[in-house]
Amino acid sequence: MCGIVGYVGVRRAAPILLDGLGKLEYRGYDSAGIAVRDEANDHIEVVKAKGRLKNLAEMTDGGRAVPGSCGIGHTRWATHGEPSTVNAHPHYSKEKRVVIVHNGIIENYQEIREKLTRKGYVFETQTDTETAALLLDYYYQKAEGKHLSPRERALDAIRSMMIRVRGSYALGILFGDQPGVIYATRKDSPLIVGRCNEENAGHMIASDVPAVLSYTRNVVYIDNLEIACLTRDEMHVYNLDCEEIDKEFTEIKWDAASAEKDGYEHFMIKEIHEQPRAVRDTLSPRIKDEDGGKKSIDLSELNLTDDDLRGVSRVTIIGCGSAYHVGMVGRVLFEQLAKVPCEVDLASEFRYRQPILDERGLFIIISQSGETADSLAALRMCKERGLRTMAVVNVVGSSIAREADAVMYTWAGPEISVATTKAYSTQLAALYLVATKMAAVRGQIDAAREQQLIAEMLAIPDKIERVLSDKERVQWYANKMASCKDVFFIGRGLDYAISLEGSLKLKEISYIHSEAYAAGELKHGTISLIEDGVLVVAVATQPELFEKEVSNMVEVRSRGASLFGLTTYGQYAIEDTVNFTVYVPRTEPLFATSLAVVPLQLLAYYISCAKGLDVDKPRNLAKSVTVE
Ligand code: AGP
Repeated sequence: MCGIVGYVGVRRAAPILLDGLGKLEYRGYDSAGIAVRDEANDHIEVVKAKGRLKNLAEMTDGGRAVPGSCGIGHTRWATHGEPSTVNAHPHYSKEKRVVIVHNGIIENYQEIREKLTRKGYVFETQTDTETAALLLDYYYQKAEGKHLSPRERALDAIRSMMIRVRGSYALGILFGDQPGVIYATRKDSPLIVGRCNEENAGHMIASDVPAVLSYTRNVVYIDNLEIACLTRDEMHVYNLDCEEIDKEFTEIKWDAASAEKDGYEHFMIKEIHEQPRAVRDTLSPRIKDEDGGKKSIDLSELNLTDDDLRGVSRVTIIGCGSAYHVGMVGRVLFEQLAKVPCEVDLASEFRYRQPILDERGLFIIISQSGETADSLAALRMCKERGLRTMAVVNVVGSSIAREADAVMYTWAGPEISVATTKAYSTQLAALYLVATKMAAVRGQIDAAREQQLIAEMLAIPDKIERVLSDKERVQWYANKMASCKDVFFIGRGLDYAISLEGSLKLKEISYIHSEAYAAGELKHGTISLIEDGVLVVAVATQPELFEKEVSNMVEVRSRGASLFGLTTYGQYAIEDTVNFTVYVPRTEPLFATSLAVVPLQLLAYYISCAKGLDVDKPRNLAKSVTVE
């Protein structure tokens, strides 16, 4: 969703803003804009363009045509008002007394708009953001009579605005009469501040780390309801009472190259290939060598004692989209391995269904970005009720990571493509560790089985490599099927969980209608949709369910479907039924999802390429869904 960048320093701001916005393109957007203060002419120049960032770059000659060393920029993902130049950010009040960029939603914007209209304010756009800009202007004018210093006056106005608005926001703010200063604040939308390296001396704000990485590795995560004030040389952060507070800098360990394509045509295919490394990085630090050649799982980072794990009455996994699909796998793992009841919920449903929650339960929130609005709200709901929470998160320092009682980071590295691949795989790996540890501690598996499971986990990265080495076959098949209109993914048990992910991957980047069904459910309605030309992807990695799944395949084949079978080496009987088969290496069946997901990711990727679509930035989608 929307991306924010700001820079104040010694360099020309506009090229830095454009560069930073380029690094946030993955978040999804439909228009972009910048506001830069031209010190020489004491004027704030605002330039906006609908569509891709390159339009804005062309209009500004890559930023070179916009003088000034202090500015803010924005990529907009429309919520209120159509995607258009006028609705693009920055938004500003009369004479550009206040200029802002905004990520989030001002929920009570109608009511504020009415109030401001009564006060004589005139609105130019349909956005909720303009409301925030004019409200800030209103309070800034009001504070004029309070005999405050410029900074106190700005803080006073920002604070009044924050108290008045409901919703979520990260804001970058320029005041027309305060040259060389950027203010920024947030509530429930991400915001970081970076202190630039010597060459670029100054400070930056951004929605995410990749936007600042070329200029700094030292960032501060701004917390909810904090206000940052930045100049070239100084950074101050204040709480809602306008008292200055200390903030710690975090050093970003990964480099800018991890957020580049590295010779691959798209981020998605690069990230698919990074999965062996990402899964290894997630598993290895948590698997320790013991005496006698044994290994053990070390989850001390979670601050859960063995007694805590034994005392867990129920596991509840909460997430959205692919993270929810990981939860579907987790349910099988926790129930079959650790024998602990487990339920999985969509965060958007969980938060409103008034669930009955077990106080001895463990609540696991899964999120790549750590900023998904519904997942964050679900986490907060659990915390308000005093429940034990843990987060499985990829983005270090994100809101969910910071607010959960414990966090287990997935070391996937920056994931740029909207369609998640490596983050999904590392989330699976994280749950393998937690479920196996819980099973061992609760005495549900013996030492030999524990060692076997650990060995199987450690073998997953190499096996993913083997699946990837066969990618050309999937590419060939994808090219052949690129024009199909309807695809059904079917499976049972874990294969149903993976079908959900395969189907989502396909629909989000290829725009082909697809659905995932528990194979046993077909006869209860959906099979009526099967006819000549429909593609059915049948996943059959679970030995115990294999024959039943083959029966379902026969049923759809005999009704005209074209069948893609996905199973493990050795299950060659499948070839009697299907038109095309992909085999993945044998593994512990409970971990088969990690291998079988790869051909499904490749299928979606190659179909999207064959259709000439924007693989990494599919229409209407955002990488991080920071609004409800
Ligand atoms: C997956 O390909 C999607 N882009 C999407 O479903 C995603 O998994 C979902 O929005 C959750 O995001 P999160 O992991 O950042 O919370």
